[in-house]
Order: sequence, then C-alpha cells, then structure tokens
Amino acid sequence: MTAAISLRGVGKTYKKAGLRAVPVLQGLNLEVPEGQFLALMGPSGSGKTTILNLMGGIDRADSGEVIVCGCHLERLTSGQLGDWRANNVASSSSPTTCCRSSRPPPTSNCPCC
Ligand SMILES: Nc1ncnc2c1ncn2[C@@H]1O[C@H](COP(=O)(O)OP(=O)(O)O)[C@@H](O)[C@H]1O
Ligand SMILES: [Mg+2]
Repeated sequence: MTAAISLRGVGKTYKKAGLRAVPVLQGLNLEVPEGQFLALMGPSGSGKTTILNLMGGIDRADSGEVIVCGCHLERLTSGQLGDWRANNVASSSSPTTCCRSSRPPPTSNCPCC
C-alpha cells in the first residue's frame, strides 16, 4: 500500500539562544498508509505534538525527509510551505486533504502537487 505520510530519518532538536537544546526526535522512521487512522500515543513530552507539527508543515525537521502525499516538505521554501499548509491542512493537528484526495487539487506552489 502507498504511504500517505512518510517520515524518514527525521531529527528534531529545539534550540533557543541561552537555553539548553532539547533533542526530541532522532532518526525517526514512520509510514502511514493511505486510508489508515493513526493514534500517536506516549507520555507527555515524548514528541507527539512535534511529530504532528512536522507532518502538518507547521514546523521543520532538522534532518531527514517528511513526505506527505508525495510532497517532500523539507524541499519547500518557507513561502511554499505556507501555501502547502493553507491548501492541505485543516488544523494544527489534523491534516485532512492531500494531493491524491478526492477533493479538488490544491493550488499551492508545491513542486510535487
Ligand atoms: N517550541 C519548543 N521549544 C523548546 N522545547 C520544546 C518546544 N516544543 C516542545 N518542546 C519540548 O520538546 C519535548 C517534546 O514536546 P512535545 O512534542 O510537545 O511532546 P508531547 O506532545 O508528546 O507532549 C518536550 O520536552 C517539550 O518540552
Ligand atoms: Mg502534545
């Protein structure tokens, strides 16, 4: 089955000047097949929101690939990512449509769509 969402070797560390870096994801691999409902479970602070933010184009990974409906989000400019998010993500935690959905195709600048 084709993956609707693929995370490949994804790393994410939160860094803020003057504060200790917080490594959250290291080499994360995750495949979500089309049509599958997925529950992300884990203790508070384990990285669930971080993963959803990467899948929804709200935040960027430091390393690895984040592919949603064939679109490599890590290859998009900030402007393209904003357009992609506006056209494909309904809320911060609920990606709903994608390039292969039955809805009209998005008009974003995503080079993959
Ligand atoms: N913007 C941020 N800046 C710094 N640290 C953050 C930020 N967002 C989340 N974190 C830290 O990253 C870790 C994972 O957070 P999060 O993804 O929100 O976990 P969960 O959703 O599983 O509770 C936690 O240690 C949290 O404190
Ligand atoms: Mg959370």
